[in-house]
Formats: sequence, structure tokens, C-alpha cells
Amino acid sequence: MNKSFFLTGTDTDVGKTFVACALLQAWRANGLRAVGYKPIAAGAESIGDDGGALCNEDALRLQAASAAGFSIARINPLCLPEAIAPHIAAERASITIDMHTLVAGFESLRAETERVVVEGAGGFLVPLDDDADMSTLARQLGLPVILVVGLRLGCLNHALLTAQCIAACGLPFAGWIGNVLDANMPCLEENVSSLRQRLIAPCLGIVPRLASSADAVSYLQPALASLDY
Ligand SMILES: Nc1ncnc2c1ncn2[C@@H]1O[C@H](COP(=O)(O)OP(=O)(O)OP(=O)(O)O)[C@@H](O)[C@H]1O
Ligand SMILES: [Mg+2]
Repeated sequence: MNKSFFLTGTDTDVGKTFVACALLQAWRANGLRAVGYKPIAAGAESIGDDGGALCNEDALRLQAASAAGFSIARINPLCLPEAIAPHIAAERASITIDMHTLVAGFESLRAETERVVVEGAGGFLVPLDDDADMSTLARQLGLPVILVVGLRLGCLNHALLTAQCIAACGLPFAGWIGNVLDANMPCLEENVSSLRQRLIAPCLGIVPRLASSADAVSYLQPALASLDY
């Protein structure tokens, strides 16, 4: 049976891809066929020294952590060239974001796997066009949401606002993962306690600064069993 999740964050650069890769590695270590999905990426680089195909770095990282056999085009169907807000990047590239294509891309991955982790771009309300934002896509996918809280000053407000948004969307809030961005953050433990107290969803792990996402697996592993959707 497939259990998939929409992974959002309190901001851009808070460790969504880092945590997504750790989740994929944890699931795969448990024998599950798991794949990452980055429906919309903003920011493309050419792969290799020869100016090869343009590709998003998150998509490459997710592919490396996923089960074999999934192309970058399937993992990241929409790669906008500029590393800026997606709706602006799309407008500047004269691209219309087609939700149906993005949902269909997810469904095809879901049909072939036991776990898909969908990584949003930026935070939960990042605009995609005049009407839709990232939460619209999460709603269309109908997935439980996991929130990566980038642990630094200001994270309480961002985490609580995002939790309200997830609830307002009517999506299940499956859990949150604290990712230490600033190892010297004053009162880190007290902040984590406040999050545990105020967020209704379970804490699935607190990830310290680490050399690689593979090292984060042991910080998440014990809580993954509680992700029973
Ligand atoms: N716990 C950690 N320990 C060490 N490095 C980390 C940790 N979490 C994240 N990083 C590093 O911080 C950077 C930002 O993390 P990441 O790319 O996962 O953020 P993101 O939320 O996915 O960003 P985006 O919004 O661009 O998708 C990356 O270089 C990543 O390897
Ligand atoms: Mg990312």
C-alpha cells in the first residue's frame, strides 16, 4: 500500500531536501520502494562540465536517494530556469504552471512505489500563479503534510503560522521535523519544547548539523512507524 506525504518547510533553505533524502533512505532501509517528487523547482544548473542538460539540484539529490529507475524528468517535471519565486520565474520564462500535469506526475510515481515524498518549493503559501499557491497543489494531491521546521530564531512564528495554514486547508498534519540550522541558537531546547507543546502534530525527530542526509536517518527512524496514514 502506498503512503505518501507532502513535505513543506517554514521557509526556503530550511532543509526540506536534506530531510526528504533522509526519509527516502529510511524507508528504503526498511525495504520500501520510495521515490522523491519535486513537482516545481526554481533554479537550474547544467550537469557536467560540457554545459549539458539543465537540471535542478534538489531533483538530483532526491533521485540519488530514491529507488533506482526514475528519471529526472519524472522526479521534477517542471524546472524553471531562475532561482526566484516560482510564479515570477514562470512568468519570466513564459511558462504556465499546469496543475493537472503535476498531479498526474505524482499519481504515476505513486502507482509504482510504496512511498512518495513530495517536496514543495519554498514555504507552504509560495504563489504559483495568480490563483494558486503551494498549498493548492498540496490540496490537489490530498496528502498528509510533514513540516520541516528550520530551527533558528523566528522559527516558532513560522511553524505556528504554517500549522494554521495546513489546518485551514483541511489536510492532515502528519508530523514535524526540527532541523537545526544554527547550532548556536540561543535556547534551542526551549524552542523545541515550545514547538512540542504548541504544534498539534507529533515531532518525528530533531536533526542536528550533520555531514550528510544519510546520517539523519537514525534521528528519524524511531518516529516513522507513527506515520500511519
Ligand atoms: N541538518 C543539516 N546538517 C547539515 N547541513 C544541512 C542540514 N540541513 C540542511 N543542510 C544543508 O543546508 C542547505 C539547505 O538545505 P536544503 O537544500 O535541504 O533546504 P530546502 O528547504 O530544501 O531549500 P529549498 O527551499 O531551496 O528547496 C543544503 O546545502 C543542505 O545540505
Ligand atoms: Mg529543497
